[in-house]
Amino acid sequence: MSERQRIVSGMRPTGPLHLGHYFGVIANWVRLQEEYDCFYFVADWHALTSEYADPTRTKGFVPGLVKDWIASGLDPEKCSIFQQSMVKEHAELNLLLGMFTPLGWLERCPTYKDQKEQLAQKDLNTFGFLGYPVLMTADILMYKPCAVPVGKDQLPHLELTREIARRFNHLNDTDLFPEPADMLTEECKLDGLDGRKMSKSYGNSIMLSEPIEEILPKVRGMKTDENRLRKSDPGDPNVCNLYPYHKLMTDPARLPEIREGCRNATWGCVDCKKVLMESLEAFLGPLQERRAACTDDMVRDILAAGNAKARAFAARTMDEVRQVLNFDF
Ligand code: TRP
Repeated sequence: MSERQRIVSGMRPTGPLHLGHYFGVIANWVRLQEEYDCFYFVADWHALTSEYADPTRTKGFVPGLVKDWIASGLDPEKCSIFQQSMVKEHAELNLLLGMFTPLGWLERCPTYKDQKEQLAQKDLNTFGFLGYPVLMTADILMYKPCAVPVGKDQLPHLELTREIARRFNHLNDTDLFPEPADMLTEECKLDGLDGRKMSKSYGNSIMLSEPIEEILPKVRGMKTDENRLRKSDPGDPNVCNLYPYHKLMTDPARLPEIREGCRNATWGCVDCKKVLMESLEAFLGPLQERRAACTDDMVRDILAAGNAKARAFAARTMDEVRQVLNFDF
């Protein structure tokens, strides 16, 4: 077995990934695969907690998500990529951990209350939705990772994971489950095209798989520094919605010229957008080539190999869990 420390993270298949996902999460995953033994998985059971009314839709997003990951630079030779529902041990551990989880911990979880309010159009008064953090705990503890790379929104779940691990260990007089640390992904500084948070539901995103011809008109319509009404007005890159895109995708050597041009009003937002279009094309081009080269058959093979690796690991953990709980007749 590898000497490297292990990390685990997952993502729900709820649609194609956009630039916000890339710079907020995936770029970090790609870096981490060089240093850690990484288990990255498609959390398709988790998607069902809120999308239970439309399971076929969720299933349809699975291959696309894997393709987006491969396009972004995840390398199945370096990390294990698998599908949650194909490693049934997660369900067994979920069931067992549920026995040790006080209801109050789940009811008090801030994401539980928030999500129920935000998704008021869906009926989330379900057992499965309340149990979301228990299933997530099973996903994580199964691989006994040192840490879990996630965004800030997931921290309450990770706190519960540690609490459940501690309670399981304490009640069973064992140290089977280590408490995984947070590995906070630096927050993505990219807002949507209209200046609001980038989100599929706002229609203000650029998808990784979106044809460049469709992206260009969107860039032309992007919101810039609102105080800059005429080209002769000086702008401020620090408040402009466009500049963060340049910082992430434009050749750093060009950034001073862009900043000064904006501040001195020697070039306009149209010039600035033209450069950004070139940058986007240069950034997304190779990514989309990799995506196009990743066929459905390849996705199947990647998942089959990753599932097998995850299953082998999960089987060992479950042997230990059953032993601790005296289910090993
Ligand atoms: N809850 C996570 C999200 O919505 C997805 C997820 C499920 C996850 N299981 C996990 C993330 C285990 C990290 C580890 O983004």
